[in-house]
Amino acid sequence: MKKFKNIIDFIRELYRTPKDFIPLHAPVFRGNEKKYLEECIETTFVSSVGKFVDRFEEMVAEYTGAKKAIVTVNGTNALHLALLSVGVTFDSEVLTQPLTFIATANAIAYIGAKPVFVDVDLDTMGMSPKALKTWLEQNTEQRTTNNEQRTFNKSTGKRISAIVPMHTFGHPCRIDEIAEICEEFNIPLVEDAAESLGSFYKGKHTGNFGKIGVLSFNGNKTITTGGGGMLLTNDEELGKHLKHITTQAKIPHPWEYAHDFIGYNYRMPNLNAALGVAQMEKIDEILASKRKIANAYTEFFNKGEQQTPNNKQGTRNKEQGTTNNDQIKHITEPVNSISNYWLNVILLSNRKERDKFLKFSNDNGVMTRPIWQLMNKLEMFKNCECGDLSNAEWLEDRVVNVPSSVIESHE
Ligand SMILES: Cc1ncc(COP(=O)(O)O)c(C=O)c1O
Repeated sequence: MKKFKNIIDFIRELYRTPKDFIPLHAPVFRGNEKKYLEECIETTFVSSVGKFVDRFEEMVAEYTGAKKAIVTVNGTNALHLALLSVGVTFDSEVLTQPLTFIATANAIAYIGAKPVFVDVDLDTMGMSPKALKTWLEQNTEQRTTNNEQRTFNKSTGKRISAIVPMHTFGHPCRIDEIAEICEEFNIPLVEDAAESLGSFYKGKHTGNFGKIGVLSFNGNKTITTGGGGMLLTNDEELGKHLKHITTQAKIPHPWEYAHDFIGYNYRMPNLNAALGVAQMEKIDEILASKRKIANAYTEFFNKGEQQTPNNKQGTRNKEQGTTNNDQIKHITEPVNSISNYWLNVILLSNRKERDKFLKFSNDNGVMTRPIWQLMNKLEMFKNCECGDLSNAEWLEDRVVNVPSSVIESHE
């Protein structure tokens, strides 16, 4: 337990609090949040129309480099709309990773489509292009329907209607290789970038590699609007369509009430967008603080060690990942990436050690959390098709998230 105590002492020192409870990720409101919220109330623009809605969309589009950014009520319904808009139907299958937050799989299930789970890489914890390609090569065939070549699952006969990788805890996955595979098999790519605002792969912001990318601004995210999400796209027409269907597909007109599509009431209120604008004004400081925290974890855990070679695709040496001598490791940003370090990850040597550490840290007022139970193990998705998931299973036994909130004195 001495080893665990040292870790807790280190985290307490990092957050400069000897006694208080330390959460995993708490929001920080140190900018214009209050002022902008007051402005909403004074002007009465609290609902889904208002200048902060437009401003927030512009700011995120500019920051991420996406041509269009469309705000939504949360990330889950942004994913739902993204999947609908790229042509996912109830009778199709969607490839995704088993190591993700439930919303990714739920959004697929809302449409009635079936998720199929393929493995992740050990270094990025996101979808492995190798595993994806292997599954597609072994399990699918090309068929021509409506003069278009499509990919079908040979055993179920169902069309593969989308591929949804996720950038786990803000670390970008090998998204360029995944995008190439999507092109090759003519399958739309939807990036679940809910956790990766501020993360770049080969210089390009996550969420920009496929047809649509999705962000979340839930209270625990890098920046928050209380609850909120965003759709990113570089297709102007698709962007217009997305905006239209988030707002009940109402045809713009000064007084007429007419709708031309089954739309959704998924648009973010101005009140939430006001928070978003104030938070975006501080994003560089927020990310700088998060990087300092990540560097401190790397320094503490990986000090004096030969750094784990994070650049070997999918082959973080399984011994080396945590080491033979029970050394706990911090997972650093993958090669070719800038990570937002949303939630810092450490790797324990096995599930038993993981559980002992989770108990010790939570008993001592420092919030830590294991990674999500794999989607294919949950009751609702246990009958879904899967590839070989050995990397996801290995990570499930070992990953622990440690406190990663912005430190205000860093600002
Ligand atoms: C990977 C992932 N996808 C989707 C979501 C859904 O976002 P929201 O909570 O805004 O609905 C989240 C976060 O909450 C997430 O972590």
